[in-house]
Amino acid sequence: NKQISVAASQMRNALNKLTDTVEDPIIKANFQTEMDNFFALYSRFLADKAKGSTLEWDRIRPPKPDQVVEYSSIAEPDVAPTEFLNKLAVLKLNGGLGTSMGCVGPKSVIEVREGQSFLDLSVRQIEQLNRTYDVNVPFLLMNSFNTDEDTQAIIKKYEGHNVQIITFNQSRFPRIEKDSQLPVPKSYDSSIESWYPPGHGDLFEALANSGVLAKLIEEGKEFIFVSNIDNLGAVVDLNILRHMEKTGAEYIMELTDKTRADVKGGTIIDYDGSVRLLEIAQVPKEHTEEFKSIKKFKYFNTNNIWLKLKAIRRVVENNELQLEIIPNQKSIKVGGKETSVLQLETAVGAAIRHFKGAHGVNVPRRRFLPVKTCSDLLLVKSDLYALKSGRLEMDPARYGPAPLVKLGGHFKKVKDFQERIPHMPRIVELDHLTITGNVMLGKGVQLKGTVIIVCSDGQKIDIPNGSILENVVITGNLSI
Ligand code: UTP
Repeated sequence: NKQISVAASQMRNALNKLTDTVEDPIIKANFQTEMDNFFALYSRFLADKAKGSTLEWDRIRPPKPDQVVEYSSIAEPDVAPTEFLNKLAVLKLNGGLGTSMGCVGPKSVIEVREGQSFLDLSVRQIEQLNRTYDVNVPFLLMNSFNTDEDTQAIIKKYEGHNVQIITFNQSRFPRIEKDSQLPVPKSYDSSIESWYPPGHGDLFEALANSGVLAKLIEEGKEFIFVSNIDNLGAVVDLNILRHMEKTGAEYIMELTDKTRADVKGGTIIDYDGSVRLLEIAQVPKEHTEEFKSIKKFKYFNTNNIWLKLKAIRRVVENNELQLEIIPNQKSIKVGGKETSVLQLETAVGAAIRHFKGAHGVNVPRRRFLPVKTCSDLLLVKSDLYALKSGRLEMDPARYGPAPLVKLGGHFKKVKDFQERIPHMPRIVELDHLTITGNVMLGKGVQLKGTVIIVCSDGQKIDIPNGSILENVVITGNLSI
């Protein structure tokens, strides 16, 4: 306990010094609040560390039937409930960068299809919704200090369109130097790599602190649909919206059936009778295999989340949120020097236990179409999907789920991917594709069944224009 209080007071002093570096009284007040929020998070992190794991494995159970509702049981074929739509706002989590796909700038500006980015596609979807039902569903973006400027520049082009775009920023917290356990930034305007956005669990406070929550409630909005900007399947669903209204639930998490490919995703559990999210990071090592079991924990969190706005206001005002902290260790360059840092993050899914009537809805896989890698990008750019008003619809000729695509390191960056596969192959009949090494795909290529192309170091494989590859393995130099 003594150690904790020493660490806490060291941090408090350092944060006070940081605040002292601001002159402007308005900026200072906001920054002070931000640092107080960070300090609360850090203190909780220290306390949790001292206590050890808070979840007891033996008390964890798979969810009860009423804790996860099947989508088919709530889907009704009748007309759209427009009156509910007028109570809805849609929010995309847009704080993240495209670094993992080798891009600088916000991930949402990566081009996905026909010159349109994630951001464009989301805006198109809402425009179409507003037009079809003659409603005014506002489109919100939670940006971070990393993404705000670029995002603002892009959304300018939507001025005058049939969609109201509202942006606000999430917090900017100081990274913690691992050795000293002190903040990396030494002043308010320390360079950008000294700070981090603390995960999408920040949504609740950021929405409230920005004044956007109050504004939405004032305008008569009651519900908010939140999703990752890179999930192209997260379109507004009227059945879930109506279900939310009917049940009075304050929080609904869309889950989908876990396959062996997504065993690492967070799952929903019953813990002493209440629903919670269980993330792999919270699982003791000896139970990892059990966690990954697709029999015991059948679903995973898509991060498509529906919330009641007034409930958000309540939990924030009453200071009820205690989201599990996800410590994230990184190595970054600070002033040219490689430094080990820690950043404390939270996730929006962890908030499920703080809301009344919270439960999951097991949705069809089509509502989870994330683009995390260039392999995913190949799928969504291909003929497997057709683009309709910002939505991607799978070709009805496709039998079964999307193919498994694994592109190697030569395709990691979007730029390399585009150079190597300038024209998308036709893949409606593909089951499995693996490509590694220095491979280039020509125009009008068709892939069927299982196709494996492995190019050894120092060699090159060019797949000629118009090739049809079906159940083949190609290795070494080009030999077809
Ligand atoms: P990521 O792409 O970083 O997370 O962010 P992930 O690990 O694959 O998926 P989750 O976290 O388990 O769902 C997912 C979404 O959250 C946004 C990103 O922009 C992306 O849309 N995000 C992430 C924020 O808005 N703020 C953050 O601090 C982190």
